[in-house]
Amino acid sequence: MVSEDVRVYEGRTKILYNTADPDLYRLYFKDEATAFGERRGTIADKGIYNTQISATLFDLLSTAGIPNHYVEKIGDRELLVRRLNMFPFTFVARNVVAGGLAARLGLEEGLQLIEPVLECYYKREELGHPLLNESHLNALGFIPPGRLQTCSILALQTNLLLKNYFAHRRLLLVDFKLEFGWAADDKILLGDEISPDTCRLWDVGTGKKLDKDRFRWDMGGVEEAYREVVARLLD
Ligand code: TMP
Repeated sequence: MVSEDVRVYEGRTKILYNTADPDLYRLYFKDEATAFGERRGTIADKGIYNTQISATLFDLLSTAGIPNHYVEKIGDRELLVRRLNMFPFTFVARNVVAGGLAARLGLEEGLQLIEPVLECYYKREELGHPLLNESHLNALGFIPPGRLQTCSILALQTNLLLKNYFAHRRLLLVDFKLEFGWAADDKILLGDEISPDTCRLWDVGTGKKLDKDRFRWDMGGVEEAYREVVARLLD
């Protein structure tokens, strides 16, 4: 680590460091995992896997012209990224019913959606990340008029690219979280990570879960699942 780099933010799973360039951060991936705000644990080498997976997927998105924060992979557990001022809400794109959607609407997990569902959630863990609709986002000034549509289009394009990419590797992209933020030039960029921590990925043939749900639900084989995703991406 470069000595003048200052830790600007530490979350449960990642650390953000300043660099000498005010426009760039180092994003460090830890092995820690949390679920439902309570369960905590460690997944051996998860930080290494998620760094590799995020780098690979952001590279794919950059090539396809999706504006994002990724600059380069600079270590086993580190990405160099553009500095962003993150939105106070996240997006979730869903292709198949699972998790929160299954619970909220009393639907069976695995139901194929006719078209992708896009949702927004307020980033307030103490409130349980409540669902926000377009009216909330506008009325609360969370995003300037017209920019929600920009993000929604980017989210759906990202979903399509990732869905196809994973499908070629026999992985079903069930759903995933996206985080956007403002860059210094007022451009909206996709940020954060894209990994089995933030995606649901099922094996196409068997339906086996290869993501953080294995940790959330104490299913065992957690490290193996992350390793399997890396192997399929690098194949
Ligand atoms: P959900 O079904 O629990 O709402 O989650 C949808 C997707 O978003 C799933 O792939 C996991 C991801 N996610 C996160 O990355 N972080 C979170 O805090 C939550 C609630 C979900």
